[in-house]
Amino acid sequence: MRLDKFLANQGFGSRKDAKKFIKDKRIKINGVFAKKPEDNINPLVDEISIDDDVIEYKENYYFMLNKPKGYICATEDNFQNTVLELIPEYNYLKLFPVGRLDKDTTGLLLITTDGDFAHKLISPKRHVDKVYIATLDKDVDMKIKNEFESGIILDDELTLPAKIEQLESNVCKVTLHQGKYHQVKRMFEYFGYKVIELHREKFAFLTLGDLQEGEYRELTDEEVNHLKML
Ligand code: URA
Repeated sequence: MRLDKFLANQGFGSRKDAKKFIKDKRIKINGVFAKKPEDNINPLVDEISIDDDVIEYKENYYFMLNKPKGYICATEDNFQNTVLELIPEYNYLKLFPVGRLDKDTTGLLLITTDGDFAHKLISPKRHVDKVYIATLDKDVDMKIKNEFESGIILDDELTLPAKIEQLESNVCKVTLHQGKYHQVKRMFEYFGYKVIELHREKFAFLTLGDLQEGEYRELTDEEVNHLKML
């Protein structure tokens, strides 16, 4: 494989970026400075490093982040903090979030370099369960349960069946199988409630475990394969 292709595949920007890294003497092949982008390497045998850090060969990267409030789900923004800033150790990768959580929503967010994986998981055809804890501005009258669960009209279409369970007088657990824009907030708004806190605690079979707010971890191969099979 060409060195520049390897670097691009590993998330180190475009082939043009790779060329610059090589020119700036940041890349080594088996301990020797790389000479040109066309150098041929075998990723399974050769040790490639950037700034003397060995690049582990992986086709793609998959992370789970416990998103704090105040970060937007975008890859870059001139004015606001993005969730990618919470993964600075991997800022050389071309990462992006799988779907979106609002700026003021906290909780489980997947972040990856794998476009195909992300598109499939957020496709409306694939009804991956997402579980949210919503805190509302007032006590909830659970008369909304039937309608909430059978579907309401949002964007001129009936929402897919959702689940709702009351945890405290003004706190509900909501399970959705789709991800329309601001869906949880808009569903509660439909019944006259304002969501004042929103936290995603589960995405498919994944939960945050002991990940604290702002922390992230790589998914295991098993988790990734399981997600790919959904
Ligand atoms: N629904 C919302 O309203 N906001 C989110 O961030 C996620 C789901």
